[in-house]
Amino acid sequence: MVRRIAILGSTGSIGANALRVIEGLGEGYSVFALSAHSKVELLAEQVRTFRPKVVAITDASCRRRLVELLGDPDVEILSGPESLVALAKLDEVDTVLTAIVGAAGLPAVLAAAKKGKRLAIANKEPLVIAGELLMAEAARSGSEILPVDSEHSAIFQAMQAGKQAEVARIILTASGGPFRELSAEEIRGVTLEQALAHPTWDMGPKISIDSATMMNKALEIIEASWLFDVPVEKIEVLIHPESIVHSLVEFVDASVIAQLGEPDMCLPIQYALTYPDRLPGPAKAPQLAEIGSLNFSRPDPEAFRALPLAYEVSRTCGTAAVVFNAANEAAVEEFLAGRIKFVNILELVEDCLNKHDVKTGVSLEELLEADEWARRQVAALACSA
Ligand SMILES: NC(=O)c1ccc[n+]([C@@H]2O[C@H](COP(=O)([O-])OP(=O)(O)OC[C@H]3O[C@@H](n4cnc5c(N)ncnc54)[C@H](OP(=O)(O)O)[C@@H]3O)[C@@H](O)[C@H]2O)c1
Repeated sequence: MVRRIAILGSTGSIGANALRVIEGLGEGYSVFALSAHSKVELLAEQVRTFRPKVVAITDASCRRRLVELLGDPDVEILSGPESLVALAKLDEVDTVLTAIVGAAGLPAVLAAAKKGKRLAIANKEPLVIAGELLMAEAARSGSEILPVDSEHSAIFQAMQAGKQAEVARIILTASGGPFRELSAEEIRGVTLEQALAHPTWDMGPKISIDSATMMNKALEIIEASWLFDVPVEKIEVLIHPESIVHSLVEFVDASVIAQLGEPDMCLPIQYALTYPDRLPGPAKAPQLAEIGSLNFSRPDPEAFRALPLAYEVSRTCGTAAVVFNAANEAAVEEFLAGRIKFVNILELVEDCLNKHDVKTGVSLEELLEADEWARRQVAALACSA
């Protein structure tokens, strides 16, 4: 049986790596649909190489250019933000890989889960913002949710060594970002340039800043709690600067199972597509004798305020997580634009959480309203920061 894949966000870093992986997998895997937002030329090039049947361009103003570039009546072209949902629901597609930044892909992720598709999920936001809704839809339809984030893929792989009820603890590893050795006081003076210089992973600006504040790990705590149905109290974060052990699971008999790999997203992408099979691919195995030593330490909760906040947010549930995520996105934008300092990012997020009136048992519309409220709030607070 050929696995037919839709990639939402094929022009991004994860999307491009996914295409590379699929190319290497050969005949059992085919690209049925692709989506991009604005990179029309790159999307057209991907269409010529991978021959999908349907493409979506979410920035509708780019549609005309795409039609001109393709000139191919065999490819159906959809446009506008709602086209993502149409792509995710296509009957011919069995696997939807979601690699769209931010909350924009959420309705499509929910639609794919409702239709019982396999979801290979790279972006944290759908689980952080709407974990309860998404897991409920997946449970109803039988949709498999397979993590692409390297840490969650590692946990997913380690989990297979025991039963869910036998899990004692999840240990999420973190590179620690560029400031892992600084104290809370020293972090106050860091610059934008220093915050963007990640020591091990090559990533876009938003995710690099999230790594420097450890907000990425904070969001991953919430993501892991939903994905693996484990309370946050059982999730611990350890700094592991070599980024070779991608995460670990401790079982009740005190066995700890880890997954190791080079820092290369091709491996978790491929596993989400081929699971339960393992196939040869572009990733290289780590050479442990050359690496020599692997180090682990606890992060400082004073220096990385995002971590203790994540535990609180996860326990509070409801709209707290959507506000946590949206306030961070808005604050990072302010920082990247040079309007606030690095330390103000978490101060704004915390202020926003303190001002928020948490609602529980909410619909998707109410979640999106809370998201907008948090962004407006940060914009107002940033002016006085
Ligand atoms: N990169 C990594 O190593 C990594 C690792 C783990 C998890 N992740 C997560 O995976 C997700 C994707 O990361 P990435 O590094 O691939 O990001 P990226 O390179 O910025 O790519 C984002 C993709 O989303 C599309 N897009 C942007 N805004 C959109 C909108 N409003 N509506 C629809 N599509 C939109 C982009 O289209 P255009 O390019 O055409 O504008 C692009 O295809 C993120 O959530 C990230 O946190 C990434």
